[in-house]
Order: sequence, then structure tokens, then C-alpha cells
Amino acid sequence: MSQSRTVTLAFTGASGMPYGVRLLECLLQSGTRVYLVYSQAAQIVARQEMDLSLPGRAKDAQSFFEERFSTQADQLQVFGREEWFAPVASGSNPATAMVICPCTMGTLASVAGGLSDNLIERAADVMLKERRPLILVPRETPLSAIHMENMLRLSRAGAVILPANPAFIITLTALMHWLISSLRAFSTNSRSLTA
Ligand SMILES: Cc1cc2nc3c(=O)[nH]c(=O)nc-3n(C[C@H](O)[C@H](O)[C@H](O)COP(=O)(O)O)c2cc1C
Repeated sequence: MSQSRTVTLAFTGASGMPYGVRLLECLLQSGTRVYLVYSQAAQIVARQEMDLSLPGRAKDAQSFFEERFSTQADQLQVFGREEWFAPVASGSNPATAMVICPCTMGTLASVAGGLSDNLIERAADVMLKERRPLILVPRETPLSAIHMENMLRLSRAGAVILPANPAFIITLTALMHWLISSLRAFSTNSRSLTA
């Protein structure tokens, strides 16, 4: 995946934040352009699971990740949850693919219901309506009938449901390969994407 490819990555407040942060790192290392947006609950979970303080303001988050992952200029753009003029909010200029990792059952339900009440939900809605790849990495257990119905609804609408429930034989690196190969499947020019 070259820098002409853009992936929208959203972190929400489900357990599994190390997957999301590692995916961001892999995408940036591969030279992919990334649009990043995260929820308030994601900030709480990042602190809880990784002792990581995600800045509350998009501008600060941009500097934080640029420094942490030594990104190339203009490779990463971070948006606030209500930045309705962000490119991801519009079908005119959709990203190549979008991943919500980790994905809460709340955000999953909102996307399944087409609510578009914040930028994450709107960006996901745009991917579905534009028939672009949308991958959700939900994490919850046990699953209620409502959770499963929402996942089925999204799957039928074209989304990929990729739960964060690796087998005991799988490593974090293997899961990243799995995620990246899912993204590759949608990309025609993805040779430089490595985990
Ligand atoms: C430490 C912590 C862990 C959580 N883990 C999960 C989880 O694994 N799955 C989930 O669906 N919600 C989880 N939640 C609840 C969500 O964060 C909560 O429903 C929140 O409103 C989701 O908002 P968001 O979808 O905008 O991020 C967790 C909350 C906290 C504080």
C-alpha cells in the first residue's frame, strides 16, 4: 500500500487498544497515509490498558503520534470527533479503507443503525454507502443477541467483522499480518505494507 492509499483508523473505548496503536504504527511504517480519529472512551481505555495518555485535542494528538512514530510529513492527520469538514466525513473523497480497532459494541450499534452522530460513525457510514472496505474489530464477551444482530447487519451491508479474539497460538504480530492482509485484499498496489 503506497502513500496514495489512505486508511481511516478509529480507536474506540473497547479493550484491545494495543491492537489499534500497533496497527497505526504498522500503517505508518509502511508509508500509508492515515486519518486518525478516536473517541473519549478510547482515551480512558488507552490509559487503563497501556498507560498511554492520548491527547484530548486533535492538534496535540497529531504532534504526539508524529513524534512517537517518526512519521513522514503529511502522512498522518488526526481529526476531532466533531470535525465535520474532515475529508472522511464526505463521500466525495473517501479513504481507501477504514478500520475501527478496537470497536465498542456502542459504536458498532451506531454504525449498524446509520446514526452518524460523530466523525467515527459518519466516516464508517460513508465507507458503507460508497461501497468501500470497512473493517470492525469488536471486542466484547459474552455477546448478546443485539450485538450479534448488529454484527450480522453490518456484515450484510459489506463490512468485515474481525473480532479481537485471537487463538492461543496466535501472536500480536500474526494478528497484525491478518489485519493487514485484509486491507491488502482491497488494495491493488500494496507491496510495501508489512507488519
Ligand atoms: C476500561 C474499559 C474497558 C471497556 N471495554 C469495553 C469492551 O471491551 N467492549 C465494549 O463494547 N465496551 C467497553 N467499554 C465500554 C465503552 O467504553 C463505553 O460503552 C463507551 O461509551 C463507548 O464509547 P465509544 O464507542 O464512543 O468509544 C469499556 C470501558 C472501559 C472504561
